[in-house]
Amino acid sequence: MLLTEIDHVAIAVKDLEAAIAYYQSAFGATVDHREVVESDGVEEALLKVAESYIQLLTPTRPDSPVAKAIEKRGEGLHHIGYRVNNCAEALAAMIAAGATPIDKAPRPGSRGTTVAFMHPKGSFGTLIELVQE
Ligand code: CO
Repeated sequence: MLLTEIDHVAIAVKDLEAAIAYYQSAFGATVDHREVVESDGVEEALLKVAESYIQLLTPTRPDSPVAKAIEKRGEGLHHIGYRVNNCAEALAAMIAAGATPIDKAPRPGSRGTTVAFMHPKGSFGTLIELVQE
């Protein structure tokens, strides 16, 4: 088994502050990490749940993939991050299994992670991110 943990569930939101406040008041959640990822055009807030995270994501520019996702489908579940020990190995295994890579090779993600995204087409409708810490 190449997956070691659900790393994060990513939720696209229009108003990051409002979403954080909601998770704080509803669940007592606290922000564990916050980061602007310029290359992806997003700002994220990570709320820790045991060894996983809820990742609240908001676009920082109109041409970011998250902005397009919100425009197309509204706010909500955007992708699932699966934690792996070796991103390159898991990426190769997914491609061999017929998945369509968005990233042809692992690349830097937030928190100093190494990541690769797989297209929902070929992965039963779910945008999958492989996350190596
Ligand atoms: Co992610």
